[in-house]
Amino acid sequence: MRWLEGKKIVLGVTGGIAAYRACDLVRELTKEGAVVNVVMTKAAQEFITPLTLQTLSQNPVITELFNLISESRIGHISLAQSADLLIVAPATANIIGKFASGIADDMLSTLYLATRAPVLIAPAMNEKMYLHPAVQENMERLRSRGVCFVDPEAGELACGDVGIGRLAEVSKIVEMARMILAPDYLKGKRVVVTAGPTSEPLDPVREVTNRSSGKMGFAFARVAARLGAEVTLVSGPTALPDPPFVGIRRVRRAEEMLQALEEVVPGSDLLVMAAAVADFRPKEVSREKIKKEGFSGVVELERNVDILRSLSSKKGKAFFLGFAAETEKVRENAAKKMREKGLDAIFANDVSRDDIGFSSDHNQGTLIFSTGEEKEFPRLEKEELAFRVLEEISGKM
Ligand code: CTP
Repeated sequence: MRWLEGKKIVLGVTGGIAAYRACDLVRELTKEGAVVNVVMTKAAQEFITPLTLQTLSQNPVITELFNLISESRIGHISLAQSADLLIVAPATANIIGKFASGIADDMLSTLYLATRAPVLIAPAMNEKMYLHPAVQENMERLRSRGVCFVDPEAGELACGDVGIGRLAEVSKIVEMARMILAPDYLKGKRVVVTAGPTSEPLDPVREVTNRSSGKMGFAFARVAARLGAEVTLVSGPTALPDPPFVGIRRVRRAEEMLQALEEVVPGSDLLVMAAAVADFRPKEVSREKIKKEGFSGVVELERNVDILRSLSSKKGKAFFLGFAAETEKVRENAAKKMREKGLDAIFANDVSRDDIGFSSDHNQGTLIFSTGEEKEFPRLEKEELAFRVLEEISGKM
């Protein structure tokens, strides 16, 4: 899904070694449909050339406050007024100081004062500079004015020191830009999402699990965070990396998933139960690896806990969305599950198809509400489907 389609982003690049990473940032932003106008400070041009960023952004790079050519084509005031977002990455201590005290002695600092667009700053500098009270206080002042920050990361710094100050990952800066520009349907809401399979041990090396990849639940978690929610993702074992700006708890067994949910569901506004919980678990778990010699060939299974049913007494004000993985009579079986588990809505999908559902990047199905209302979704990327479902539900919470 192209979250930044048509958005006008002004990217300020200031003078630090991390300036070269602005190239990747421009590429990622434009790949997602943003129109990027780069503004470089004088110091930034010591590290990379305007031509590089001009080629990548396909827009003239602005380097001076009073340049007759750029001023006649794209004046600093009109740029400030038309911007949807101002990003500064990397941001030096110097530009942060200028922003905080309202100094406007170059194009970028002037733009900051002239724009009313949201501002996102990704600082990058030596750790001692970053932790200096002057810089910290300046950042605090900007924060109190509503400026957002993507904190620098810890690691090896260009100056040879090890510490905090490395420019945040480009993917994190882009994610924050999406969060700022996305609609705020879930602002102030607490959302809990479950994802992936659960895995029930038989012995130290074997387990009973299923084919769930976790992609659907992870997409819901990412999208809910973009829509303004505070998100906790409770995930069974998956190969997926932690999504940024989402609190994550990794679990294995259904019992552990239930325990984690019992802590986080009370007080939340929405539970998206996308996990494929294993319905059965081995009755006995061997402490030692089971040897093939002498093994009877029979593993006795017992029913696992039904997490949604167990949580229903702790539901409170929360809206519960379940998923129904079906291979036949999809809508009928899903509606039955919704009633039996006391849900507010259920997403019914056909897991017998290879082009949607398990492991696929796509899904398709019907959202059924306990009120009887139904909404059909065509085959969509899981992220877009999560967006459309959350958009639908946010109006009913
Ligand atoms: N679910 C749960 N606890 C379980 C099994 C499922 O909370 N032990 C949740 C799933 O996360 C999903 C919904 O219940 O949101 C329906 O899951 P599904 O596997 O389709 O249904 P089951 O209840 O397991 O029924 P069956 O497997 O018999 O179709």
